[in-house]
Amino acid sequence: MKYMPNKKVKSIILAAGKGTRMKSEKPKVLHRIFNKPLLGYTAQAVQDLGYVDETFVIVGHEAEQVEKYITSEYKDIKCILQMPQLGTGDAVSRAVPYLSGFDGYVIVLCGDTPLITSRTLNNFIEFHDNNSADLTVMSAIFENPKNYGRIIRDKNKKFMAIVEEKDAMPEQKAVKEINAGIYCMTWNKIAEAFKSLTNNNAQGEYYLTDIVKWAVEKNLNVQSFILDNNDEIFGINSKLHLAQATKILNKNNLEKLMENGVQIVDTNSTFISPETTIEADTIILPNVYITGKNTIGKNCKIGPFAHIRDGCIIGNNVRIGNFVEIKKSVIKDNTNTAHLSYIGDSELGSHVNIGAGTITANYNPITKKKSKTIIKDGANTGSNSVLVAPVTINEMASVGAGSVITKDVEAYSLAVTRSPLKQITNWVKNKLEQIQGGNK
Ligand code: UD1
Ligand code: CA
Repeated sequence: MKYMPNKKVKSIILAAGKGTRMKSEKPKVLHRIFNKPLLGYTAQAVQDLGYVDETFVIVGHEAEQVEKYITSEYKDIKCILQMPQLGTGDAVSRAVPYLSGFDGYVIVLCGDTPLITSRTLNNFIEFHDNNSADLTVMSAIFENPKNYGRIIRDKNKKFMAIVEEKDAMPEQKAVKEINAGIYCMTWNKIAEAFKSLTNNNAQGEYYLTDIVKWAVEKNLNVQSFILDNNDEIFGINSKLHLAQATKILNKNNLEKLMENGVQIVDTNSTFISPETTIEADTIILPNVYITGKNTIGKNCKIGPFAHIRDGCIIGNNVRIGNFVEIKKSVIKDNTNTAHLSYIGDSELGSHVNIGAGTITANYNPITKKKSKTIIKDGANTGSNSVLVAPVTINEMASVGAGSVITKDVEAYSLAVTRSPLKQITNWVKNKLEQIQGGNK
């Protein structure tokens, strides 16, 4: 059940940092999992709350690229430039002018933790609200807390401060409760903290984490919310982390699909984007890779070795077999594309049979234009046919094997483009006789 907070909620996503350890020219938050940038996962989790009325993304490193992505996918989100990047506290400070007079909660999160769920964010805000807190920090217990800020408590377990690894004393380093980097602030109580941040620390940065000590000194209500699934705050700093996060996301998603009645034969070799929905009794055979947003009906059989890229709407009882790639296509019920085919920018009706090796030639590399192939109900294509788009194969039409189709095919007709079969009687026999004759 979704909680409805008592106050308005706005959010700030920090995404200005460089991400040196990615060893990449691309900004860290634009690296992709299942073809969706990391930043998109965090932005989506916030958006899925349904009640956040304004979101700001702090951009800096390669700001233009990050802003371009945000404005193309999330029109309501504003980007704020942080230049230079003087730390997480400085990053949030950039948003302060946009929040003046705001009487509500501000949640702050990082653009490089794609596994956070809107369910957890919702519980977190509910916790803050129910405790009438002024500041709530999400924390987690880590067996290996290295590199994280530590949650420092006094002898009565009262939350006092966050100390960064680089500034921590040995006894502080031993603390296993860490700062997850997600905060909820009652804005009119906390906003003032950003006036008094200093960079007097080991990294010479303005730390966002210093607001905890500030709020404790002001006798404000400071809480910590301990996360129960540490995977959710898995932060991406390297290509290894990217692979590990993909695994976690995929595992959770496959489990959800199986719970809903999808059969997955080999969870180790199956990758399915969480944005794809699949109905019960569909079977996914090994080595299937499905990225992007797709919907797949019931009783389908997919794979082994199939690749569904993005934007596909697939009906019921559809067969997508080995070495078949499908992109941005609609496939209606009871249609088969069983072997070695490429179906791109296409619409396939129901009861269509696609012969092995059929290719929809959807892309013209000279004009750089993509065109559509339409194959209507009951039509079929013979093996090794090429359908040069834009082209329509009408109802119940048949395309002969090995044909290259450049014009629309009429309903109930056969279209063949191969040259007539020619037989030269005894051609081989004559050859053999010639050779043997020469050997004498
Ligand atoms: C931060 C926390 C640490 C916490 C950890 C959780 C601080 C001082 N420390 O450390 O307590 O355990 O996150 O992951 O906040 N960013 C900007 N502008 C900047 C600097 C950073 O936008 O000037 C962004 C980064 O792009 C990133 C996020 O802020 O998305 C966190 O920055 P990062 O440098 O990764 O902080 P950590 O050292 O991990
Ligand atoms: Ca980090």
